[in-house]
Amino acid sequence: MSELNIAVFISGSGTNLQSLIDKSESGELLAKIVAVISDIDDAYGLVRAERHNIPAFVVNYSRFIDSHRLKREAYEEAEKEIIKILEGFRIDYICLAGYMRLLTPYFLSHFRSEYVYRVLNIHPALLPSFPGRHGYEDTFNYGCKWGGITVHFVDEGEDTGPIIAQAVYPIWPDDTVDKIRHRGLSLEHMLYPQCINWLAKGFIRFERKGGRIVTYITDPDYRVVLDEMIKRVIVLK
Ligand code: GRF
Repeated sequence: MSELNIAVFISGSGTNLQSLIDKSESGELLAKIVAVISDIDDAYGLVRAERHNIPAFVVNYSRFIDSHRLKREAYEEAEKEIIKILEGFRIDYICLAGYMRLLTPYFLSHFRSEYVYRVLNIHPALLPSFPGRHGYEDTFNYGCKWGGITVHFVDEGEDTGPIIAQAVYPIWPDDTVDKIRHRGLSLEHMLYPQCINWLAKGFIRFERKGGRIVTYITDPDYRVVLDEMIKRVIVLK
């Protein structure tokens, strides 16, 4: 078991970042947040990082985007800057937490080899359903009776990488999008740290299945942990 060094990428309010910070400080998270990266100048997550003395950096992609350049090239230029920043730290994993930019194959190639994925994401829906930016709205508008969240490794597609873990919450007849977002976020704040701990403890195994790389969790307490999480969220209003 080891304590991991992680960088957290954000674009917005950063409630997932906050839950990782709190659990890191209390010792529940087997990881230290060594850097926070934002693509938005005034993301509230930056304030959270500052309050906890975590080095935080803004890489604003609009500086690189112009009409003479392909979007991919502009993204790679921005990512070069991010990579340069991260070189100043010993990073084991990058955790995307509401980061609203897709990472290019150029960036990802720095952080993966066949079975070693080093970029994680938390997605607000039960993948492969509802990829993209509006997981809670899409789940709600589809009329689902259960919603879910997914922690997965990031590959070159949009929300297509190997799934690490998922958890579900009920959707009641009188629900609203805001209510299910609240329920889902409570689950996110439990599942993301848990997945990082599984990584730190060496409980994530990779296997090739058909054409895909899939993961298995080998924690003997896996069922208990998941059961407790879902029970806690079922009673939320
Ligand atoms: C979360 O719902 C996460 O699943 C998605 O973006 C949102 C970020 O929320 N990727 P926050 O900034 O952590 O509050």
